[in-house]
Amino acid sequence: MTAPFLAACRRDATPYTPVWLMRQAGRYQPEYRAIRERLGFLELCKTPDAAAEVTVMAVEQLGVDAAIIFSDILLVLEPLGVGLEFTKGDGPTIHRPVRTASDVDRLGLADPAALDFVYQAIRRTRAALRPEIPLIGFAGAPFTLASYLIEGGGSDDWATTKRFLFADPGAWRALMERLVHAVTGYLNAQIAAGAQAVQLFDSWVGCLAPADYRAHVLPHVQALIRGITPGVPVIHFGTGTAGLLECLRAAGGDVIGLDWRVDLDAAWARLGADVAVQGNLDPVALLSSIPEIRGRVGAILGQAAGRPGHVFNLGHGVLPSTPVDHVRACVDAVHELSARSGGA
Ligand code: CP3
Repeated sequence: MTAPFLAACRRDATPYTPVWLMRQAGRYQPEYRAIRERLGFLELCKTPDAAAEVTVMAVEQLGVDAAIIFSDILLVLEPLGVGLEFTKGDGPTIHRPVRTASDVDRLGLADPAALDFVYQAIRRTRAALRPEIPLIGFAGAPFTLASYLIEGGGSDDWATTKRFLFADPGAWRALMERLVHAVTGYLNAQIAAGAQAVQLFDSWVGCLAPADYRAHVLPHVQALIRGITPGVPVIHFGTGTAGLLECLRAAGGDVIGLDWRVDLDAAWARLGADVAVQGNLDPVALLSSIPEIRGRVGAILGQAAGRPGHVFNLGHGVLPSTPVDHVRACVDAVHELSARSGGA
């Protein structure tokens, strides 16, 4: 039998709605925090046995239907020579941000082999994971990666990124093309190592006007998705994308990832029945109570109405302050409340 997660990505019927959670491995788990006492975040990502251990532990603890390889979207930027650092409390920093056309030209060439530790972690995870649990690979989408490269870290308004794009569309295009090249090679190498689906994170693309997305992002995401090994489901995720859903759909992906700012049923109607959806519980709901979580899970399943092609997830990652038993209760509620008799 095809794993329910992969079947749902292909819009085939499943006996229950499959679920996994963004950031299912992370700081909300005491075991993760214990490993982080010994290893820095980048060190953990670069130690294949430890990354595999953290990946598998989350699946075993939660009973989710898919694993996602423990890594980070920003690792692909390190071989470009921009000086990536994660500082405690402050999140990521890029020490040599990209601010001009000549900064783009100076970026190092993408060499997928530089990220060999990710492919090794995928191989070890695949060997350690129960065979019926699919493994998801992932990468940042070009806009979100560019936003870190240009801002030099996180941002509230992405003003530096948008100013770069508006002021020098030629340099922007050159940057997008480099990132598409790097990410396509990276995702295909993850697939070759054993990733059975891939998720593209365009976490911050919701800050763009639809016209700017169409002109300056869509063709690049389209080229990227077309370059991914055929037959491997692609999940295309963004946040704050209520104004961009049709654009994301046009850019591609077998599954569109939704955040909680849209109703799942209305969003699915806009996207069309010929695509699967993933989402979309507000991660803050997991801070409430188990009855409240069950009620909200039930409401989202009600909107999906048992139609094939729904992968349950949060609308963004699990927050570090989330109680572990609430995360597990969410996963259990998805399975219990969606169980179908006579399913595939
Ligand atoms: O989902 C998973 O379980 C897989 C692991 C994963 C991480 N980051 C681990 C991580 C994934 C898929 C990501 C993606 C990622 N990384 C995104 C896209 C998703 C999103 O959240 O929008 C982005 C924007 C990043 C960049 C990033 N990494 C930031 C901004 C930060 C700092 C903020 C934070 O949450 O700490 C990180 C660090 C990070 N990535 C942690 C984890 C578990 C925390 C590191 C720690 O242990 O201190």
